[in-house]
Amino acid sequence: MNKATLDVGLARTKIDRNIYGHFAEHLGRCIYEGVWVGTESAIPNTNGIRNDVVSALKRIKVPVLRWPGGCFADEYHWMDGIGPKEKRPSMVNTHWGGVTENNHFGTHEFLELCRQLACEPYICGNVGSGTVLEMAQWVEYLNFGGDSPMSRLRRENGRDEPWGVTYWGVGNENWGCGGRMTPEYYADEYRRYALYCRNFEGKNLYRIACGPSGDDEHWTDVLMKKAADQMDGLALHYYTSVRGPDRKRTGQATEFDESDWIDILRKGLFIEELVNRHSTIMDVYDPEKRVALIVDEWGTWFAVEPGTNPGFLYQQNTMRDALVAATSLDIFNRHADRIRMANIAQTINVLQAMILTDKERMLLTPTYHVYEMYTVHHDATLVPVDLVSETYAHDGTEIPALSCSASIDDAGKLHVSMSNLNPHRDIAATLDVHGRSCSSVSGRILTGTTMNAHNTFDAPEAVGPKKFDQAVVGESGVDITVPRMSVVVLEIA
Ligand code: AHR
Repeated sequence: MNKATLDVGLARTKIDRNIYGHFAEHLGRCIYEGVWVGTESAIPNTNGIRNDVVSALKRIKVPVLRWPGGCFADEYHWMDGIGPKEKRPSMVNTHWGGVTENNHFGTHEFLELCRQLACEPYICGNVGSGTVLEMAQWVEYLNFGGDSPMSRLRRENGRDEPWGVTYWGVGNENWGCGGRMTPEYYADEYRRYALYCRNFEGKNLYRIACGPSGDDEHWTDVLMKKAADQMDGLALHYYTSVRGPDRKRTGQATEFDESDWIDILRKGLFIEELVNRHSTIMDVYDPEKRVALIVDEWGTWFAVEPGTNPGFLYQQNTMRDALVAATSLDIFNRHADRIRMANIAQTINVLQAMILTDKERMLLTPTYHVYEMYTVHHDATLVPVDLVSETYAHDGTEIPALSCSASIDDAGKLHVSMSNLNPHRDIAATLDVHGRSCSSVSGRILTGTTMNAHNTFDAPEAVGPKKFDQAVVGESGVDITVPRMSVVVLEIA
């Protein structure tokens, strides 16, 4: 009964590699320690940025990186983060632990990080507590090559050529921490800010408006009605979490039972419902799908690790997170006609991180490994899949046991990612492939021995990808057994 029907002949839509984007905020130990250690650090670094982290992130081919927030963005004044470090003013990071931010990691350091990663920068500007002038000057500082007050300032700070930053977010969560605005008010503000973020010297900015929180369809409707003609993307935020009566996130990242397992997986899958609902509204105003739905904050959010600063949002990462990542990425792939960027929260030491650090030590999380395995889908062409899956049920909750997406790359290799969400049962399935023949299949698998399998600083390789040999070429395509709680990526030649 478990069958995925793939039609290569219907492959049309490119899976934008920016769907595999990331998000790094001035929050907890994401930027400071996670990325930035400073040039004097004993931790090996290049221009103050740690080498181990950069080389790990290069392996997952980070295509785009969103910065400086998050809620931090709407309190951030970029001019405090340029010039000689000893002269940079500090500020209080009121959202995240009330710690003092010394502004040593600013615009130049962020662009240096992007250079080292060879990724696109995505800058989120300050609408909540900033001004139009401030954001307009930031664009000029980064993108204007001629002679102007901002380009002179940039040159005084050691950078001659403009960077030419394409992706600009006009505020963050302006319905909440970014100003508590109504959609009507924000839409007007958005139009004003977007206008003064100029296209210098042929560099067409890609302007991203603050989008809805979760299922706020009214926000999407108002923004599309009032401002769709001025935007390239609308940013949806959705976190997979459980909230207690006080609205605080509850549930531990590593201590959970099967009810928590299925509950989080179900909530992760709910993002497809959100994508469908918001896309339907966007279709009314933009049937050509010119405006992208950008999922620029998503991922799991649990209570912080015991004993850590509650404002730092530091959490571990298990096979459960890996499955939320895999199923979400499958959903984004399948909706690649509307979703052209997604940025998981966050890159290092915060929420559903790729990397955790402990001073000079570093480990890669199960989520990191999913991103590494899924690099095959970057910029490949989506192959439509019709999936018939058995269900997995526990404690009154029922979800499809299998998740799947597929793509074909320029070399004609077909890649299929398939996950099994059931923690008890291996599942035999058929991949019925139309539109091409299959002569060989190989693959890799990510799995663990328990639902909460994870990597620690003492055992950093407990969960990692391995060669997979339970798929063979069959009569109509490929026959596979997907082991319980696993993520498999196949290459079919
Ligand atoms: O990612 C953590 C926070 O979640 C971000 O700062 C904010 O935008 C969202 O509420």
